[in-house]
Amino acid sequence: MTDHLLALDQGTSSSRSILFTADGQIVAMAQRELRQIYPQPGWVAHDPREIWQGQIDTAREVLAKAGVTADRVRAIGITNQRETTMVWHRGTGQPLGDAIVWQDRRTEAQCQRLRDQGAEALVQARTGLRIDAYFSATKLQWILDHVDGARAAAERGELAFGTVDSWLIWQLTEGRVHATDVTNASRTMLFNIHTGQWDDELLALFDIPKSLLPAVQPSASHFGDTTLLGPRLPIGGVAGDQQSSLFGQACFRPGLAKNTYGTGCFMLMHTGGTAQSSRNGLVTTAAAQTDAHRAYALEGSVFIGGAVVQWLRDGLQAIRASSEVQQLAESVPDAGGVVFVPAFTGLGAPYWHGEARGAILGLTRGSTVAHIARAALESIAFQSAALLEAMSRDAIAHGGTAVSELRVDGGACANDLLMQIQADLLGIPVVRPRVIETTALGAAYLAGMSTGVYRTLGELEAQWQVERRFLPTLSRDAAQARMARWEHAVRQTLAP
Ligand code: G3P
Repeated sequence: MTDHLLALDQGTSSSRSILFTADGQIVAMAQRELRQIYPQPGWVAHDPREIWQGQIDTAREVLAKAGVTADRVRAIGITNQRETTMVWHRGTGQPLGDAIVWQDRRTEAQCQRLRDQGAEALVQARTGLRIDAYFSATKLQWILDHVDGARAAAERGELAFGTVDSWLIWQLTEGRVHATDVTNASRTMLFNIHTGQWDDELLALFDIPKSLLPAVQPSASHFGDTTLLGPRLPIGGVAGDQQSSLFGQACFRPGLAKNTYGTGCFMLMHTGGTAQSSRNGLVTTAAAQTDAHRAYALEGSVFIGGAVVQWLRDGLQAIRASSEVQQLAESVPDAGGVVFVPAFTGLGAPYWHGEARGAILGLTRGSTVAHIARAALESIAFQSAALLEAMSRDAIAHGGTAVSELRVDGGACANDLLMQIQADLLGIPVVRPRVIETTALGAAYLAGMSTGVYRTLGELEAQWQVERRFLPTLSRDAAQARMARWEHAVRQTLAP
């Protein structure tokens, strides 16, 4: 019986494969860390070959662990770190050097030049994004302009560009398919989210030959077949990890929102078939598409979320393992007036201050490392609260209502203290589902949608189950006073 779905989840820090049953339960999981390469300050790279090797190894390992052969898998779903950019030779499949990771800031000056030329309005209107080094376009331009012979080879049609999903599809199909899905395309800054096509004017603006680009498909559709795991297996679903987790959280209707607590925090709210533009610092992006109808979301991305806990461990050396943070933070009743703004790589949405740097404010002689740990946890919740506030303001401006509950996932959502602080700041329930691997689950669901495992979104809604609801216990006045202190601290971190 082909009763399983295999999700390949290629993230920034690791490659993972998770095998699910059709009713959304995890059967087995395998994971490989991914090496981070820092060629210069502010640059972050990955080796494409290592990405592929880690991914295929974990796919084989998870099937072996589960004792399930590929003939019992209905389809593969792929989900991936978004925006990360690579180029390879169509003839040989050889990458042109390392992938430029979404966190990499090497193209900031080029982005500033484009903003100075007044290109922001065009980019925003077509892509829903703001001009930022975060997105793929200037990374691809950088490769063409800095790797020897790249531009000439691209002009001759010899090269392929891809985000990580395209690279994995190419490898899985042994070079037969060069494709991506709408959600990944919508993060490149080259894709018109309204027409669902690559945009010729943007390609001219960024000087990108069209021959480099993959074909764009709905997220739940047939992306080709692989025979690398045994009998022929279809790739039935592809989505960028944040849109995939929105899907895995069963947020299919306007107003439903989720926040993923990973390295960063990514909050997305579904807006149905309407691409809403933000007046509050969010971006508009494609949501996973399961049929001919386009779907959209508003997104806010916080660059440092769970990574602040890593810094407590590796930078400050206040804890030995990330799991110790909850206990340390709980050893004090509050942060004792300490506010921590972890703007290590600038601030993302809704502030967008690339120049900001981190700060710890409000220290007294009574401050301890426990207060700093608590303030670090609070910073994750403060940044997410600022996103939700922006999202609700946008929803109301578009005639909708404020977000009424927040679904959560990602590693740090297991931290009960953090979730309670989050609910207190937001003033709405924070809802943790039974399966918190919703990124991988979303990819499995998309693969199941295109291969007939599921017929309606309603079936997936029925599978989504709450594990715990965190209800607000703080008065709104007290919460607002704390947010005001946070916003004051943020202003202190901005470059003059
Ligand atoms: O936009 C970047 C995001 O897709 C990265 O997610 O989970 O790999 O850190 P993650």
